[in-house]
Amino acid sequence: MSELSRRELLRALMAGGVAVTVPAGRAAATPSAAGDAAVAQASSALALPRAPAGRPTPGARQRDRLDADWRFAFGHADDPARDFNFGTYQRTYAKAGKDTADAALIAYDDAGWRALSLPHDWAVELPFVPNPHPPADVDDPAAAHGYRPVGRDHPETSIGWYRRELNIPASDAGRRLVLEFDGVFRDCIVFCNGHIVGTNASGYIGFEVDITDVVDYGARNVIAVRVDATLGEGWFYEGAGVYRHVWLRRTDPLHVPAGGIVVRATPRAGQAACAVEATLHNAGDQAEACVLVLQVLADDGRVVAKAQLPATQVAPGDATTVQHALAFDAPQLWSPETPVLYRLLAELRVDGVARDAVQVAFGVRSIAFDAQRGFLLNGAPYKLKGTCSHQDHAGVGTAIPDALHAWRLQQLKALGCNAWRMAHNPASPALMDLCDRLGMLVIAETRRMSSDPEAMRELQRLLLRDRNRPSVIAWSLGNEEPQMVTARGARIVGTMQALVRRLDPTRPTTFAMDKGFGEGVGQVVDVVGFNYRTNQMDAFHAREPQRPVYGSETASTVSVRGNYFVDDARGYTRAYDVDHPWWASTSESWWAFVAERPWIAGGFVWTGFDYRGEPTPYNRWPNVASQFGVLDSCGFPKDNAWYYRAQWTQAPVLHLFPHWNWDALPALANRMVDVWVHSNLDEVELWVNGVSQGRRRVPRYGHVEWRVRYAPGAIEARGYRGGEQVLVQRRETTGAPAAIALRCERASLLADGQDVGMIEVAIVDAQGRQVPTAADEVRFQVSGAGALIGVGNGDPASHEADKADRRRAFNGLCQAIVQSARAPGRLRLQASAPGLRGATLELEVLDALA
Ligand code: GAL
Repeated sequence: MSELSRRELLRALMAGGVAVTVPAGRAAATPSAAGDAAVAQASSALALPRAPAGRPTPGARQRDRLDADWRFAFGHADDPARDFNFGTYQRTYAKAGKDTADAALIAYDDAGWRALSLPHDWAVELPFVPNPHPPADVDDPAAAHGYRPVGRDHPETSIGWYRRELNIPASDAGRRLVLEFDGVFRDCIVFCNGHIVGTNASGYIGFEVDITDVVDYGARNVIAVRVDATLGEGWFYEGAGVYRHVWLRRTDPLHVPAGGIVVRATPRAGQAACAVEATLHNAGDQAEACVLVLQVLADDGRVVAKAQLPATQVAPGDATTVQHALAFDAPQLWSPETPVLYRLLAELRVDGVARDAVQVAFGVRSIAFDAQRGFLLNGAPYKLKGTCSHQDHAGVGTAIPDALHAWRLQQLKALGCNAWRMAHNPASPALMDLCDRLGMLVIAETRRMSSDPEAMRELQRLLLRDRNRPSVIAWSLGNEEPQMVTARGARIVGTMQALVRRLDPTRPTTFAMDKGFGEGVGQVVDVVGFNYRTNQMDAFHAREPQRPVYGSETASTVSVRGNYFVDDARGYTRAYDVDHPWWASTSESWWAFVAERPWIAGGFVWTGFDYRGEPTPYNRWPNVASQFGVLDSCGFPKDNAWYYRAQWTQAPVLHLFPHWNWDALPALANRMVDVWVHSNLDEVELWVNGVSQGRRRVPRYGHVEWRVRYAPGAIEARGYRGGEQVLVQRRETTGAPAAIALRCERASLLADGQDVGMIEVAIVDAQGRQVPTAADEVRFQVSGAGALIGVGNGDPASHEADKADRRRAFNGLCQAIVQSARAPGRLRLQASAPGLRGATLELEVLDALA
């Protein structure tokens, strides 16, 4: 990684993002009022604070991350005795703070529980368990979630309890104390000192609970969370546990509530026009006359606009909303290529003293979906070169550290990808912050297509949390729902859309459809998403030329990294761009179609990364993971990654495959091998063992290929542009595995207990060439200032443990993820394997990155 991008990354990780706010409500994990009318009221608004962590802000606001020092134990979904007496004799709600559950009480002794830090996904720690009764001729439904023992059949591993001490100083008396959960899977009850302080159903959108009334000041308090992952929300691996950050926020009773700052910034005649809306809540017991002071800061800290609003009277227990228009000259416009952020600092003063201050990151940019010109960014057509991905990575499952989110985002950007559809649920705030700061357009999606009060509150929290973000370009209200083409579905989505219009009139709505494109919800939302079926887009456009469209899911090419023959026994597809489910297409065919039609806004490849569950096309044991990714589950590129690089980036690309190690592989028919090249050069010539196989023109949206006879040696591709040879690539028949080679893009990590190093572990021959078929098991030992937090190898049929000190290489590669300690030092990773020369890699763990 370059110095510049490293610094940018660090800043992104440390700065946090968008706004900040606190609810008025007490002891409520979700807004107290249900339904449309209530959610429109700013005073009931809830969203997750995104104030910069660890950076002092004026006023009484303080925000601390509570990721460290938790204890964990399994409860039980069926047996109260094994669930710390939760629900015994139906007495849970009988007496406040007393009968809820043993494990919720301050006095409970959790010494025997496991100590851990968040984020934590317990599902990824469990072994794979096959379905004992798989159906004979149809897909195994147990495959969808990836065969981890979570759900109704596994009561002993579906309830997780978390406990943590919280010392609240006496000086906090009088402040509002709120716990923020960025995401818990799923259905949880939060206790403080034995009291139920909130509940939350969604496994994806964050929530918060006010603990002001139940904490003991100047004393030890205990937070407990009972997490029930028995029921799922998706048809893919969803993890289990407190898998995102938890924060403690302290504010003055007079404060800006959650989601209470809106900044709508648009470029206009060389200026940035910023419409600011602020909700001020007074949770105190006397009226306050407060003055709101607004400042807009540029990236370098310069104040580019400021204003002081007239004093506003806020009655006790009340909230009021004020509006103000700010403008500043010559804004730098936000785009994925230039992700310039401004900050609005809103300070709430009474008698000249700051009582609260919140920061909201925002960008100045304009967006539009146009039925004729496609997506427009800052007034110009801008093709969405997107991918969809779930939150899931090798070794860690859904418990993705922020630095790993950043790494994944960088891998996608390296493909030339500029957009991410968050499938099919709200992403973590950390990832959303990174999309703003590193530059990635986002289609933000709510999980449930429903207008029931709970689903509406989930959508509301998503809108309030993410509506200031420059990255977000549309709100997706659903995906391939059975009711999407019915009048009932249209009514539901109409109700959801009305909420979007009220809380964010600046962005369009969309729905990812796989049929009936102009019907049902297709008549309700602003932009129609096509899941696959690109071949139906022309007819739709002719019929409904006023409706903007894009490919909400495209491709779904299945491929296994480094595998070039069909292996039905192990469940491996080939890494050529050839295999896809019946509804999908190759990468080349969707992109050729979309690239040529300016009225299509772009498309989102299903998927950026492989993910657990949905092991299409086999959909049964031993397959446990999907094969849709352009990158595998470790983020290692499959060959199609170079197709997208060739199409989506300007740099010359020449990628030759497969490998040339066919001696040990299953017999080839007539020893013939299909050799492909992905390239954006004009022509490519292939040489096999020194003999030219001819020079071929690279089709505009295609690849070049030859069928050649295998003999050990080397193949070489020579790429030409304008008649000049520009790039050459060789694949040589390697020798046997001889050594391990370790590689990390970073030389140092931050000593924050959170940062990660992504280590590529390659098996190489005596000459240092990666052995593309190697499957050696590598053992890891980490010492010094950090720990190994997970391993993976991209094999969709591997049943090896993610949390282990070893991993087999898969087609020559595996991955080790190391995490820094909270104190500086050196982190040392040693890798060994029987019969191979081992390797050691050291990372500096520093207080602050140089
Ligand atoms: C789509 C669906 C995705 C995923 C994909 C697999 O129909 O929206 O979530 O299941 O198919 O191809």
